Amino acid sequence: MKGENSKRPIGVFDSGVGGLTVVREIKKTLPEEDIVYLGDTARVPYGTKSEKTIKKFAVEDVMFLLKYRVKLIVIACNTVSSVALNFLKETFPEIPIFGVVDPGVKEALRVTKSGNIGVIGTIATIKSGAHEKALLNAKEDLKVYTKPCPLFVPLAEEGITQGKIANDVISLYLHDLKGKIDALILGCTHYPLLKKAIKGFMGSDVTLVDPAVEIAKTVRSFLEKNNLLNNTGGELSIHLTDVPPHYKELIERFLGQKVNRIFQVELTGCEGGIKL
Ligand code: DGL
Repeated sequence: MKGENSKRPIGVFDSGVGGLTVVREIKKTLPEEDIVYLGDTARVPYGTKSEKTIKKFAVEDVMFLLKYRVKLIVIACNTVSSVALNFLKETFPEIPIFGVVDPGVKEALRVTKSGNIGVIGTIATIKSGAHEKALLNAKEDLKVYTKPCPLFVPLAEEGITQGKIANDVISLYLHDLKGKIDALILGCTHYPLLKKAIKGFMGSDVTLVDPAVEIAKTVRSFLEKNNLLNNTGGELSIHLTDVPPHYKELIERFLGQKVNRIFQVELTGCEGGIKL
C-alpha cells in the first residue's frame, strides 16, 4: 500500500463508546486523518464474555470496517486486543491490524525503574494474561501485578470519576498494588477517565500508562514509514450498533468534543444517520 492509499480512512473499533478515548488521542496525534469508528454498543460489554464470543464479535467488527476501505485497523478495545489480536491478524492478513496491548507494554517497560509493574483491565483482559506475557517476554525478571477492575467501566460511563464513590472503588481494587509498583498500565478504554483519581490514590511516584496515547504514536510511525500519511482529511464518522437516548452525552465525554451526527448500523450494513 502506498501513495493513493494514504487518503483512505483509519478504522477503529471497540465494544462500545469507550474506544473514543483512543480516537481522541489519534485525532490529537494525526489531526488530518479520516477515521471510521465502530462501537458495538448493542453487545457491550465484551470484557465479561468468553474468548469464543469475543473473537466472533471481533471478526464481525473488522468485516464492517473493511467495507470502508480502511488503510489499517486499530483495535481500541483492550479486551479484544488481549484475547483476539493474533487471531484477527491470521484471519485478515490483507490489512494491518494494531492492538493496544503492545504499545502500553512498551511504554511501561520504558518508564519503570523498579521493574514492578501493575496491569488493570476487564476480567477477560486480565484472565488472558496478554500484558503479563508480553512484559515477561521482554524482561523475565519483572514483577507483574494484575487486577481486574470491572466496576471502573460503569463508573466512567456514569461520569463518577472523582469523589467518595470513585475513591472507594479505586481503593477496593488497587490497595493490593499500592506501594508495590512504579508503573500502572490502564488496560481498558474507560480507565483514562479515572486517571486523576487513580493517580491520587496510587501516589505521584507511580506512572500511569495510557495505551490510547501509545497506540496513537504507533499508528503515526507506521503511516510515516509506509508513506501513508494523509494531510487533507480529518473527518470522523461514528457508527454504533445501538444508540440509546443518553449516548450523545456519553460519546462527547469520551471523545472530548461535540458530535452532531452518528450512524446506527447493523454489522451487516449501514442504515443511515441519526440526527442528535
Ligand atoms: N472496551 C473494553 C476494554 O477496553 C471495556 C468495555 C467492555 O468490557 O467491553 O476492554
